[in-house]
Amino acid sequence: MTRVATIDPAHPSEDLLEEAAQILRGGGLVAFATETVYGLGADATQADAIERIFAAKGRPSTNPLIVHVHDARAAARWVRQWPERAERLAAAFWPGPLTIILPRAPGIPDVVTGGLDTVGLRVPQPEATRGLIERTGRPIAAPSANRSNHVSPTRAEHVIADLEGRIDLVLDSGPTAVGVESTVLALDREQPTILRPGPITARDISDVLGVEVSTGGFPKVEPALPTPSPGMHRLHYAPRTPTLACAHARELMTVLGLGPGTAVLVFGTHTLPAIPADVPVRVLREPTEAAHELYDALRRTDALEPERIIVLLPPDEPQWWAIRDRLMRATASR
Ligand code: TXA
Ligand code: MG
Repeated sequence: MTRVATIDPAHPSEDLLEEAAQILRGGGLVAFATETVYGLGADATQADAIERIFAAKGRPSTNPLIVHVHDARAAARWVRQWPERAERLAAAFWPGPLTIILPRAPGIPDVVTGGLDTVGLRVPQPEATRGLIERTGRPIAAPSANRSNHVSPTRAEHVIADLEGRIDLVLDSGPTAVGVESTVLALDREQPTILRPGPITARDISDVLGVEVSTGGFPKVEPALPTPSPGMHRLHYAPRTPTLACAHARELMTVLGLGPGTAVLVFGTHTLPAIPADVPVRVLREPTEAAHELYDALRRTDALEPERIIVLLPPDEPQWWAIRDRLMRATASR
């Protein structure tokens, strides 16, 4: 049985936090909101609890989890060395949607990192979530709270749709603020490298560090490239319905010509051709709104059970890269 409890993200009930902390200390699974997406949390120091996460999600054990802590000092505890670059980034962006990868200290079991010698750490924004982590007194490993490779969750309903009966508790604090996952930044090398584009851009990071940041070949998602981060498989974030991407509005007519049963999602400002009245269309013009609505729009469109979903991609511009990355993975061939 999965219990669902409503929590005020700014003024959480102490009793509810204590209940959730006890579940986590006991090796159970609690889903909670971060500013990006809902996470599925477990005590990162208990290998059994971590294995429960992989089982509930159906996630391959080679895909490492991000460890969530309540502040930068707690993050420094779980890495071999906390460099000055990390301190500067933490001061600028934490709490916030930046995951920092560094060589890991003993105490984080192999199952968390998929055997890698590094660990990803971040401090999430919502007060309630940081309060929960601090109260639990443990680092909390939390992947997105969805079934592996499915669309990420930005509402408690999404978590329940994917994981009902597989986890102990869902803390429902409404829709998440940002809507796409954190930027994953490798700091374990000479040149800081973005492994997953997200709300904090390469530009934001290089402004703080004063060095060039590699985008690791992003934004092109090439099937022939080795995956830069173990979780960055080509097909990911995907609806159940076959989903295709178009770069230009004119290509839409060709696809719509395939017959009935198409639903359309438009990202950015395209000049649309006349679309038949029976074709559902959702338009998300601007990147902040598009990030906020992205996964809900994919899930809702999927629920209409069309024969195919056509995604009209946003422009190849930095403010759209995180969204383009997720859309290209959602539409990669199966
Ligand atoms: O916004 C987020 O990051 C959300 C919320 C819940 O915090 N979490 C999230 O977790 O997106 P997940 O498990 O869905 O994605 C984690 C990503 C994967 O692409 C994984 O490969 C990468 O982070 N990652 C984690 N640890 C890593 C490491 N040590 N080295 C390289 N990549 C790592
Ligand atoms: Mg995920």
